[in-house]
Amino acid sequence: MTLTEPMTPEMTRTEPPTQTEHPRVAVPWWQSAVVYQIYARSFADSNGDGIGDLEGIRSRLHYLHDLGVDAVWLTPCYPSPQRDHGYDVADYFAIEPDYGDLESFDRLVSDARALGIRVLMDVVPNHCSSQHPWFQQALADRPGSRARARFYFRDGKGENGNEPPNNWLAWFGGPAWSRIVEPDGSPGQWYLHLFTPWQPDLNWDNDDVAEQFDDMLTFWFDRGVEGFRVDAVSVVGKTPGLPDTPPPPPDARVTDRALHNPHVQFRPEGHAPWLRWRRLTDAYTAAHPDRPVFFVAEAYSPGRPDRVLEYLRGDKFHQVFSFDLLLAQWTSEQFHQAITDSINELASQHVPLVWTLNNHDAQRSVTRYGRDDATDPARFSGNNLINSDSPVDLGLGTRRARAAALLMLALPGAAYLYQGEELGLHEHLTIPPEARQDPIFIATDGDELGRDGCRVPMPWTTTDDGSYGFSPPGAASPPWLPQPHGWGASSAEAAAADPGSVLTMYRGAIATRRELLGAVAAAEFGFIDTPPGMVGFRNGPVAVFVNFMAEAMAIPAGHGTRVVLTSLGGHTDASVLPGDTAIWLA
Ligand code: NOJ
Ligand code: CA
Repeated sequence: MTLTEPMTPEMTRTEPPTQTEHPRVAVPWWQSAVVYQIYARSFADSNGDGIGDLEGIRSRLHYLHDLGVDAVWLTPCYPSPQRDHGYDVADYFAIEPDYGDLESFDRLVSDARALGIRVLMDVVPNHCSSQHPWFQQALADRPGSRARARFYFRDGKGENGNEPPNNWLAWFGGPAWSRIVEPDGSPGQWYLHLFTPWQPDLNWDNDDVAEQFDDMLTFWFDRGVEGFRVDAVSVVGKTPGLPDTPPPPPDARVTDRALHNPHVQFRPEGHAPWLRWRRLTDAYTAAHPDRPVFFVAEAYSPGRPDRVLEYLRGDKFHQVFSFDLLLAQWTSEQFHQAITDSINELASQHVPLVWTLNNHDAQRSVTRYGRDDATDPARFSGNNLINSDSPVDLGLGTRRARAAALLMLALPGAAYLYQGEELGLHEHLTIPPEARQDPIFIATDGDELGRDGCRVPMPWTTTDDGSYGFSPPGAASPPWLPQPHGWGASSAEAAAADPGSVLTMYRGAIATRRELLGAVAAAEFGFIDTPPGMVGFRNGPVAVFVNFMAEAMAIPAGHGTRVVLTSLGGHTDASVLPGDTAIWLA
């Protein structure tokens, strides 16, 4: 039975495993974890240079402990020219000097562990920085050299090789090829970069590449890292021969155009590295049984969970994000569909689910759900994640984002939070153009705002001391991205003192989730029949209802009388659910 069949009001269960009898093994912690994504540059600045750093994170570990998270995922903090804020790695074996050094990293891991918080890192396999010694060497060496074979160097087409080797476009604007000047000063070969020109794609058919990443993963596991979020896995592997792609629709936005290139996405050629990585982690865990190290992969594939499944099937990644929840508009149909698709495809394969509502690439949920177009499928595409400019009602958005969070935290599997989500931070939409730094904004001449608005430094204190406590008093530099006026009202300090704050709700929900849901497996999940506009499900002992409409609705009877949690402070009635509100019943 799959979950697309009609649900009965009694809790509907998925079938127990049938293909093979799975022996009862201890469930690794990461399967049901709450993980907190730290955007290292924007979390906390310890030395007043306006840039977040590892000591800053270390100084705020108690905040994360009080929030109740199991682990933190650090966005890339390797040395990097920051052309794509760390997703352009110049050295996979060190720490960005602006963020600290290996000693500060070790201190962070050890202090976090003492508080029961594990540390995950971000690994970027598809590309490195153009400042990486390998690329520099490739520029210095000749065509056909070993150094060039680690990347995609090709001769150009047309007269004198003046045209790129094919018509592929880069994700962040312009062609996916740049031409180099050969060491003798002549116009040279072209190299492939699916993102910015400062992020040359690595050639995974090359043994040097594979071996470097084996060493890198082991290096960080040995330093106490418990797992990796893996960047952009779906673009590793390209169609052999690198053929031209059919052109994208003429009206496609810059950041949508590359999505239409079938030669650089979800390629079967791109799976060998993940099999290799899985063997590496299996061996590592076998040698360190108390350290079940793991990967969670990033592969956006809206509405196509089957493609996501390919990254899990046959012992590849341990987990892949289910992004459909993040991409859904505020409608019961889309949330229901997102949950159904993920559960049908992934849980049916006995694969643990990973949910998320926010990250450093998407507009914050408070802003997304507060938009005029949030409930109108005709006015929405996945692109609204960064591009919608319809009017925003932050009060409404906050109310809905609270409800969405309670829904997510009750689902089976792991939940990944993005820093500031627990404070109800909104997208900073009015960053002045000259202060914006996202390569998307720069490459599109401001046509697309890009992602700076969700990356603004955290507000820690209510007082406006120039950075709302992000930097220490008397800091030499302002925050690297400007914070919005009045950011202190959303600060951790303000929220901690307010029993009705978003932070208080998250703390309560995470604690209750641990107590009631523990390591509840997907097999204990089932939808509950609800009227249109409402989503209902049961996970283990908890029944969850979310009203996506503006008007109150009756909660179907027979699923619990005790109100465990609601997203609307002060609501205690188990029979009726106000609009845009979530409730947990037991
Ligand atoms: C996905 C990351 O989340 C994003 O921030 C980055 O720009 C691209 N991959 C390229 O690495
Ligand atoms: Ca700093």
